Amino acid sequence: MDQPIGIFDSGFGGLTVARALIDLLPAEDYVYIGDTGRYPYGSKPLDDVRGYASELAHSLVDDFNVKAIVVACNTATAAGLDDLRDELDVPIFDVVTPGASAVVRASRAGRVGVIGTVGTISSGAYVQAVERASRQTDVGIELSSAACPGFVEFVERGQLSGDEVMVLVERLLAPLTEAKVDTLLLGCTHYPFLARTIGEVMGPDVVLVSSADETAFEVSERLRELLLLRKPSEVGTRRFLSSGDVDTFRDLGSALFGADLVAAEHWER
Ligand code: DGL
Repeated sequence: MDQPIGIFDSGFGGLTVARALIDLLPAEDYVYIGDTGRYPYGSKPLDDVRGYASELAHSLVDDFNVKAIVVACNTATAAGLDDLRDELDVPIFDVVTPGASAVVRASRAGRVGVIGTVGTISSGAYVQAVERASRQTDVGIELSSAACPGFVEFVERGQLSGDEVMVLVERLLAPLTEAKVDTLLLGCTHYPFLARTIGEVMGPDVVLVSSADETAFEVSERLRELLLLRKPSEVGTRRFLSSGDVDTFRDLGSALFGADLVAAEHWER
């Protein structure tokens, strides 16, 4: 079906999900909106974030005629997507449920860690999602979570490594190394950009899980079932929009994302 798939996040983080989707479904057209003019979401009241998510999702349907929406933002998902799912007539995918399933499946010892924004962790969304996912395994799951304020800001500045990043990562992940988690879910779509430092701090025995691939598989399966996928022989287009400074979005976006992101447009709220 010749309509694009819409994706949104507060900024660059959702590009990790866009990457997985484009790699898996290259024939599709994509419209990505990064709400960099209002980022970060993680420290804002969830009611505000729910309002932003609603504007973005309605714009993707009304202005870009998307056939499905991928909410590539854990904080927006934690704020609640039920109203959007009632209001809009397109499938709406999130990253929390696929992430929780992936981390529970990947854990051998059942000591699972989740990190995310203050909004995501304090909402309890992962406690519920991991609880649901753990019903499908015989391994007893023990969940430890930590909010990581500051990580998103590093990514949005393009600062992905170095001493400052290391010091903050070590400090905020200390409860998880103490809990001896064997698997760690990066419960914010920005965090895979910091995976090298996070991996160094957690050590080689801890498996890092990002929800991007799992989400892409779920989108692919559902859209195939709904007969909404384009023919694999087609060549898809990609549009990237930002509510903030478009030149910054293009420059940092292409550094993070690569050659698919060579131009950015302004998204008007
Ligand atoms: N990337 C988003 C998430 O997955 C939000 C980051 C933020 O703006 O705080 O939660």
